[in-house]
Amino acid sequence: MMNFAVFASGRGGNLQAIHKAVKSGKIKARLALVFSDKKDAYALEYATKEGIATLHLNPKEFETRETFDREIVKHLRRAKIDFVVLAGYMRLVSGYFVEQYPDKILNIHPSLLPSFKGMHAIKDAFEYGAKVTGPTVHFVVEQMDEGALILQEPVAVESKDTYETLKLKIHEAEHRIYPKAIDLFVRGKLKIEGRKVIVL
Ligand code: GAR
Repeated sequence: MMNFAVFASGRGGNLQAIHKAVKSGKIKARLALVFSDKKDAYALEYATKEGIATLHLNPKEFETRETFDREIVKHLRRAKIDFVVLAGYMRLVSGYFVEQYPDKILNIHPSLLPSFKGMHAIKDAFEYGAKVTGPTVHFVVEQMDEGALILQEPVAVESKDTYETLKLKIHEAEHRIYPKAIDLFVRGKLKIEGRKVIVL
């Protein structure tokens, strides 16, 4: 069985949805490590409560993005991690990191890429007046929010929606598509052809 790590900087809502899918056997892989760049991330507390190994490293204690990532990779190798799932990990990973896990890093972004890249995608789509938005699961490359798209789920923005209600709907959609995408990946059902991911 493959081992994977989840990287999270915050609440860990996606982490919890993914872990639930692992526990129920929907994802046939071992959630072996939860990593956070933030000491107080609820994701770490959740993982500890659930008996999942955790790791925290403080990026401020490293000279560069790459030296930070090199240290993380040492730990991942030790834990025999086969692939990495970024779930609300609010840092850009280095080229070094991507080279160590080519086509083996997944991310979720809360907009329909390539629209509304960046850190405030839900708010940006809401304020822009988008009528449809929703999350994207994609492979990670060095450039932010650029890798090949795996799954997207449209979420309608209705007149009665506020930023808060929209955020809730997007999070619910995320918790549906991320476990599904990870399951496809684990079962070898995703074939990358240039920008396109073919679901076999
Ligand atoms: C999620 O909405 C995720 O799409 C977003 O952060 C949230 C994390 O929530 N990620 C990004 O914006 C990445 N640029 P969570 O901690 O509850 O999973």
